[in-house]
Amino acid sequence: MKIETVCVHGAKDPNNLTGAVAVPVYQSATYAHPGVGASTGYDYSRVQNPTREALERLVAKLENGREGLAFASGMAAMDAVMGLLNPKDRMVATSDLYGGSVRLFNVLAERNGLAVEYTDTNDRELLRETLAPDTRAVFVETPSNPMMNVTDIRMVREVAGPEVTLIVDNTFLTPCLQRPLELGADIVIHSGTKYLSGHNDTMCGFAVTDNPEFAEKLRFITKTVGTGLSPFDSFLAIRGLKTLHLRIKRAEENAMAAALWLRKHPKVKKVHYPGLPEHPGHLLSKTQSSGFGAMISFEVDAPETAVKVLENVRLILYAESLGGTETLVTYPLVQTHADVPEERRLALGITDRLLRLSLGIENTLDILSDLENALG
Ligand SMILES: Cc1ncc(COP(=O)(O)O)c(C=O)c1O
Repeated sequence: MKIETVCVHGAKDPNNLTGAVAVPVYQSATYAHPGVGASTGYDYSRVQNPTREALERLVAKLENGREGLAFASGMAAMDAVMGLLNPKDRMVATSDLYGGSVRLFNVLAERNGLAVEYTDTNDRELLRETLAPDTRAVFVETPSNPMMNVTDIRMVREVAGPEVTLIVDNTFLTPCLQRPLELGADIVIHSGTKYLSGHNDTMCGFAVTDNPEFAEKLRFITKTVGTGLSPFDSFLAIRGLKTLHLRIKRAEENAMAAALWLRKHPKVKKVHYPGLPEHPGHLLSKTQSSGFGAMISFEVDAPETAVKVLENVRLILYAESLGGTETLVTYPLVQTHADVPEERRLALGITDRLLRLSLGIENTLDILSDLENALG
């Protein structure tokens, strides 16, 4: 099945007895046993639930992985994956990352002595220098949040070697445009709150892997701490995923139009979008992704212009998220990246003049005209 068909049919239950076309919400906390020592396959919903299981089947197929796990949020997925590392392990991470990931790594550094070194993971030499003989994992976000830097996943696999666990956050591109497991990653992570559920109404997260040992440990963590996704949110995510391929393509068209339009605006100094030919990751993106996605960041001429845009958008919403049907504008400085230390934020280019746009699926001209009014 091609990926568009998987989006629509991939959650189907092979043992469906009722003919229900939509996967039902199994709103049951516990399951009766047919006999002593016997099980229907379900015992208690913290461990597994049929609706969550259908969603996990679907996301694993989309990422072309053996096993998928659905969590209550992207951060819950990330925390579970970090649970595969041991206290005092070393990890190398992309320097430009979602601020919540940096916060989690800082907490783990304090609590477990996890040593996280940040570097430009797309710079072969820097990456080589940063890797140490006892580095256990490399964590890559590509394109990165919010500077849209692209990392060559195949190159990281080659430089890090087979012993290092390569974890890729694929939130920005989705499996419709990029499948990191096929490029050498061991684990793919998603904030499913974004494109996968897609309607700004559900929090969820995913981890997908081909490695049975990782999958077993992740299942043990979910069973133990109870961070698996609820039945109703699993249902909403399945529903959202049915149209993922359509939404991401439509949003990408809007992103390309907005990037080209912003590039010409006198108050816009720089546009970061891998779809633009001048973007440093443009050619690389073409070799590892089938699209450029629908996220853009751009620098305006002054902090006052940034504030003006945030306060004057009407159709576009000033809100902290991405990947939904609605176009959102975010101010990374005070929202997504507020917890990143100032010195590091500035070195990355996350200034008081940087705005991030997540293009939705509205009419292109309506979006451009809202941007025009807001920029003035
Ligand atoms: C790239 C990326 N990864 C992970 C997360 C965390 O996901 P969640 O908000 O679903 O916990 C986010 C949230 O914005 C994100 O942008």
